[in-house]
Amino acid sequence: MSLINLIQFKHLGDDRGELISLEQNQTIPFDIKRVYYLFDTQKGIARGFHAHKNLQQVAICVKGSCRFLMDNGHNKAEVILDKPNQGILIDVMQWHEMHDFSNDCVLLVLASDYYDETDYIRNYEDFLGCI
Ligand code: TYD
Repeated sequence: MSLINLIQFKHLGDDRGELISLEQNQTIPFDIKRVYYLFDTQKGIARGFHAHKNLQQVAICVKGSCRFLMDNGHNKAEVILDKPNQGILIDVMQWHEMHDFSNDCVLLVLASDYYDETDYIRNYEDFLGCI
């Protein structure tokens, strides 16, 4: 499986403006149990730095931009998210980091499960030991 899995969403906009619709198990490849969003991220701050044992997520930069670093323990790849019609799949056991948030960045994340701290691997050495 490739490190960077981008999902393109259909534009449903017209003369009035843009509209994008996301549906579980259709555009988003799992049941959506949780939605959260990051905004007003301070200059120079990077977030993430963890992997999940079971959680799947899709992150969408609905406004502004940020840079994603994805790492499967063998390879790393980066992508800039800057389009509201594009999501990145954060699959299980993918170490991920978010950098270079623009001032106006709103990063929306759809998650396949409720928040569960025990699903996180927050130590990189532990992550390498699990893959
Ligand atoms: P954290 O995991 O540090 O965010 P990230 O690693 O993606 O930068 O989350 C910050 C805090 O918010 C932490 O105390 C856990 C809590 N939290 C929830 O309670 N529910 C959630 O859905 C998320 C994502 C975080």
